[in-house]
Amino acid sequence: MKTSVCIIGGGPSGLMLSQLLHLKGIDTIVLERQSREYVLGRIRAGVLEHGFAKLMREAQCGERMDREGEIHDGFIIAHDGRQSRVDLHKYSGGSSVVVYGQTELTRDLYEARDRMNGVVIHNVEDVQLHELTGAKPHVTYRQGDEIVRIDCDFIIGADGFHGVSRKSIPKTVLKEYEKVYPFGWLGVLSRTPPVSPELIYAKHERGFALCSLRSQVLSRYYIQVPLSETVEDWSDEAFWEELKRRLPEAVATRLVTGPSIEKSIAPLRSFVAEPMRYGHLFLAGDAAHIVPPTGARGLNSAASDIYYLYHAMTAHYLQGDSSGLDNYSAKALARVWKAQRFSWWMTMLLHTFPDSPGYDQKLQQTDLDYLFSSEKALGSLAENYVGLPF
Ligand code: FAD
Ligand code: DHB
Repeated sequence: MKTSVCIIGGGPSGLMLSQLLHLKGIDTIVLERQSREYVLGRIRAGVLEHGFAKLMREAQCGERMDREGEIHDGFIIAHDGRQSRVDLHKYSGGSSVVVYGQTELTRDLYEARDRMNGVVIHNVEDVQLHELTGAKPHVTYRQGDEIVRIDCDFIIGADGFHGVSRKSIPKTVLKEYEKVYPFGWLGVLSRTPPVSPELIYAKHERGFALCSLRSQVLSRYYIQVPLSETVEDWSDEAFWEELKRRLPEAVATRLVTGPSIEKSIAPLRSFVAEPMRYGHLFLAGDAAHIVPPTGARGLNSAASDIYYLYHAMTAHYLQGDSSGLDNYSAKALARVWKAQRFSWWMTMLLHTFPDSPGYDQKLQQTDLDYLFSSEKALGSLAENYVGLPF
C-alpha cells in the first residue's frame, strides 16, 4: 500500500489529523491497534478548550458538539469549607470551555472518516516503523498471518503514551523528562444528574475530589487514591461515601448516587519527550507528552500539536514550503511545556501529598489564599484553563 501520511493511532489526535488533511486533498492511512468498540469504551477527557472546538468545526465534525456540548464560563474550587468560583469568562477576557466527552468527539471523528471513505485500519498488530531517516520511510504491521507494508512520505506517531512510535526514536536522540505523582485518580461514570452545573475541584485533607459531567443525565466523578489501590478495592458504595466526605456538606447532601457504568484508575504523571520530530516521523499528543489530568490539558495539548502539524503538512504539500515541518518540534514543545507547568501547578495546589512536610503544606495553603486574593493570579489560572493561543 502507499499513502502520503501514515498515521499510527486512531485516538482523537490521529483521527483529527487524518480528517483535516483529507479535507485538503492529502491522502492518509490510520492504523489502530484496538477495535473501534474498544477505543470508544475508554472514558477520558471531558473539558475542551475553544481552540479544540474550532478545530473540530474545521474538520467538519463540530455539529453534534455544538448541539450537545455545554459552554462553561466558570468552575468552583472547594477548600477550607468554602466554595470559591473561578469566573473564567471574566478573568480570561471573555473566554470559556466546552464540556463534551472525548468518547463522543472520537465517535464524531470516526463517523466523519467513514463518510469520506477515509482509511482507518483496526486490530493491526506488531506495527513497526522503518527508514525514519532514510529515503523510503515505511510502516509494516501484521494482520493475522499477513505482513502488510505501507510506503509513505511521513509517519505520524499519534499512538498514545504506550505506543511504538516514540520508542522507535534512538535513545541517543530522545530526551525524556518525567515526574510521577504518588497517587492516581479513581473515576466513576454514572447515569445520574450532575451534583453541580459547574465543575467542582475539591481540595480536602483526605484527598482531592472532582465533580464533572458529560451531560445533564451523565456525571463523572474522581477521587484521589493511593497507587497501591485497585478498582476492585472500591465498591460503588465505598466510592460514593468517600466522595461525599471530601465535598462541602451542602454539595454532599444533594449528590445523587447510582450504579457506576465505568470505573477506572488513572495514575498521575507528567512527561515530555524531546524532540517531537525524528527524520520523517512526527510525534503528536500523548505519544510525546502526558500531563496529570487536574488542569484538563491533555487532549487540549494534543490539539495544538495537530493544529501545527496540519498547517505544516498543508504548506508542504500545497505550497512546497517545508519550514513548518522544520519548526514543528520547537513550536509544539513551547506550548507543551506551558501546559506542563499549569497542570503541575494545579496538581500541587489541590492534592494531598502523603508525608509532605509542614513547610510544603503551608506553601500550598498560601498559594490558594493568594489565588483568591489576587485578580492577576485568577487571570493567570483562567487564561491557562481556557487554553493559551495556538
Ligand atoms: P490516545 O487517546 O491514547 O490514542 C492513541 C491511540 O493509539 C489509541 O487508540 C491506542 O489504542 C493506539 N495505539 C497505541 N499503540 C499502538 C500501536 N502500537 N499501533 C497502533 N495503534 C496504537 N484531557 C483534556 O484535555 N481534558 C480533560 O478533561 C481530560 N481528562 C482526562 C481524564 C482522565 C481520567 C484521563 C486518563 C485523561 C484525561 N485527559 C484530558 C487526557 C486525554 O484523554 C488524552 O490527552 C488524549 O486521549 C490524548 O489523545 P491521543 O489521541 O494523543 O492519544
Ligand atoms: C474531567 C477531567 C479533568 O481532568 C478535568 O480537569 C476536568 C474534567 C472529566 O473527565 O470530566
